Amino acid sequence: MYAKLTKAIIPVAGLGTRFLPATKAIPKEMLTVVDKPLIQYIIHEAAEAGITDIIFVTHSSKGAIENHFDSHYELEAKLIEGGKLDRLATMKAITPPNVNFVSVRQPEALGLGHAILCAAHIIAPNEPFAVLLPDVLMHHPRKGCLAQMAEYYETVHTSVIALEQVPMDQVNKYGIAGVSEVDLRVHQLVEKPKPEEAPSNLSVVGRYIFTPRLMELLKTTKAGVGGEIQLTDAMATLLNEEVMFGFEFKDGKSYDCGDKLGFLRANIEYALRDPNLGAAFNDYLASLELKPLKKKKE
Ligand code: UTP
Repeated sequence: MYAKLTKAIIPVAGLGTRFLPATKAIPKEMLTVVDKPLIQYIIHEAAEAGITDIIFVTHSSKGAIENHFDSHYELEAKLIEGGKLDRLATMKAITPPNVNFVSVRQPEALGLGHAILCAAHIIAPNEPFAVLLPDVLMHHPRKGCLAQMAEYYETVHTSVIALEQVPMDQVNKYGIAGVSEVDLRVHQLVEKPKPEEAPSNLSVVGRYIFTPRLMELLKTTKAGVGGEIQLTDAMATLLNEEVMFGFEFKDGKSYDCGDKLGFLRANIEYALRDPNLGAAFNDYLASLELKPLKKKKE
């Protein structure tokens, strides 16, 4: 029997090259959607799932992430002095209660699999762990994606990965899972298949709960595509040894905020949902003549 699920690894050591120039000096994970950096949404989603230990796999250029979750006494004192208690409350709400942070460094961006492996010494041999990709926002009106997955994990006690339906003509942009129709047991993972070769239209979407075996397998996973240690390769090996289930994320919406268009979509839709801004922002959008200002270059 595995230990309780309490740890989540959040790899934040990537260079965010798709989002240059914004990400030259600012970590991608600190880009804001409405009024909060991406990483704050992710930490709250993890906390809602009962995660108490967050492990950042980070890089020397990403100190702002750790600072965001640290105290800032000077600012707090100023807000108290000025009687700005609502702003103080906003600051205090950044870090969910009962969440602890640990950081480990990934010396070189050698891939997502390698990043996860950098946290191997913090995961006990009998400990399951979650992985959340911090540039993927998962909005759900009732319950966070990882919280739903953690509940499911409690019934199956084996690896569970989040899947989301994508249009069949777009499967070539995603990692796609082949699953059994009965219980979504995963039997195949294919990177960016052609639509006619795709085993399904269920894409792997950036939330995972793994048994400790995944970490063992990463240790022996050789560099794959792009000379990087690929998480998908270790997951494919795990499929041969253990049962892995897909968890279909339904009634919600994911946003790939590592991509400029995905990030813009997230900002617009989160702003429209915001209880304080939504109505006014909706009126503003309705007042615009929504046409592209410039034609796309041929
Ligand atoms: P991405 O490939 O989306 O992130 O990896 P990236 O490499 O930062 O972005 P681009 O493609 O250059 O724009 C998914 C997550 O894995 C982390 C990234 O920080 C991101 O959150 N990652 C990726 C690492 O921590 N280390 C790596 O070597 C690669």
